[in-house]
Amino acid sequence: MHPDDRHERAQDRLGTAEVGYRPVDEGEATAANLAWWDADADDYQAEHGTFLGDADFVWCPEGLREADAGFLGDVAGKRVLEVGCGQAACARWLAGAGARAIGLDLSGGMLRHAREGNERTGADVPLVQASAEHLPFTGGTFDAACSAFGAVPFVTSIATVFAEVHRVLAPGAPWVFAVTHPMRWIFPDDPGPLGLTATQPYFDRTPYVEVDDDGTATYVEYHRTLGDYVRALDATGFRLTDLVEPEWPEGHTRVWGQWSPLRGKLFPGTAIFRSERDR
Ligand SMILES: C[S@@+](CC[C@H](N)C(=O)[O-])C[C@H]1O[C@@H](n2cnc3c(N)ncnc32)[C@H](O)[C@@H]1O
Repeated sequence: MHPDDRHERAQDRLGTAEVGYRPVDEGEATAANLAWWDADADDYQAEHGTFLGDADFVWCPEGLREADAGFLGDVAGKRVLEVGCGQAACARWLAGAGARAIGLDLSGGMLRHAREGNERTGADVPLVQASAEHLPFTGGTFDAACSAFGAVPFVTSIATVFAEVHRVLAPGAPWVFAVTHPMRWIFPDDPGPLGLTATQPYFDRTPYVEVDDDGTATYVEYHRTLGDYVRALDATGFRLTDLVEPEWPEGHTRVWGQWSPLRGKLFPGTAIFRSERDR
């Protein structure tokens, strides 16, 4: 499912022996994610660091920026949580726009790059190591929360993450997150022509799992349909205000894993959900 070299290197480090689909509970998923993102952190930063910038808010491989999209509104003076921040370029951009931004991530390896980014830029963005399923903040701490492909695709329960984000947000605060567009699930993760033929049922939510020789998960990715996201937001107390499917820009040639100009011209690769805490 993941034919890129970077993914193969992390698989080698973790001893990945097989790939497939099977249920995975929270404990196994968290352990796999922690190991995976630690193993992949240096390669991820080497491959994508320049594109993502040191203090820039790029939502997705299509290159849509918060500076142009304005999903979070004016963040000056606002307390903003970035969930699954990785190297925390978005949190540093938010801080540069006047926010009191905090970056949270499960992986110490990714947060090491976040610390280095702080040092390079002189930004002093606080960084927290925790899972999005158990946010270590008291209720109503933040005026906005965001996530660019952080945590949401990798957790067993989006209901749990949404409930946690809802708890730490003030009433009316936006919660905006980007994930792989659910329709990509039906195609192999291939940027070329092989990635244009549907092979996997859209309605099958069984997670994609890579396992080592003992059958222990080394990588887990979850699939939810568009309707699953909409219903989970509504059930938690978020009002969906927009669902953005960024178009592949003319002249944009950069390939990111399975995101490519070939596929981007035909169907969406990213879904960005913009919601607000309304009850
Ligand atoms: C694809 S990277 C995205 C990083 C960054 N937002 C970016 O745009 O480059 C996914 C990030 O989610 C983090 N992550 C995965 N599971 C998580 C969880 N349960 N809680 C918090 N972060 C998690 C990973 O450690 C990783 O840094």
